[in-house]
Amino acid sequence: MTHAHITTWVITFILFFVVLSLQKANSPKVKMVSMLLRLFYLLIIVTGALLLQMLASTPPLYIVKAVVGLWVIGAMEMVIARVKKGKSTQIAWLQLVVAFVIVLYLGLKLPLGFHLFS
Ligand code: HEM
Repeated sequence: MTHAHITTWVITFILFFVVLSLQKANSPKVKMVSMLLRLFYLLIIVTGALLLQMLASTPPLYIVKAVVGLWVIGAMEMVIARVKKGKSTQIAWLQLVVAFVIVLYLGLKLPLGFHLFS
């Protein structure tokens, strides 16, 4: 399941950058790829929830991990929405990077799957 979780968020990041480049090119395909991206958000949440379900109890750090995971998704949507509106994206990008670093650290530190930091 950790592999499914990692695969879904890696594909999500690829789709996120595809959406951004399609937005830049004003391509009509942006709608379709955005929908696919949202489907992958759901898959991240489902695989994350299945990982949570594997635990006998839910230590607080797992809740933090899940909330920061949702924050990463929120920040991606924020970047896309602000590019669309032609607004400044600095704060949204900063949130995305900060949330991503935290989620990567927590995911790799927590006991399931790989643990680079523990
Ligand atoms: C883009 C958002 C997300 C990223 C980049 C991400 C990243 C990661 C990474 C790197 C791991 C470690 C995998 C391993 O150790 O093999 C992980 C594990 C996990 N993720 Fe996520 N995640 C995201 C969203 C979510 C969400 C939304 C949830 C909850 C609904 C969630 C729940 C979990 C759980 C429970 C684990 C297992 C932790 C452990 O290793 O013990 N994740 N995630």
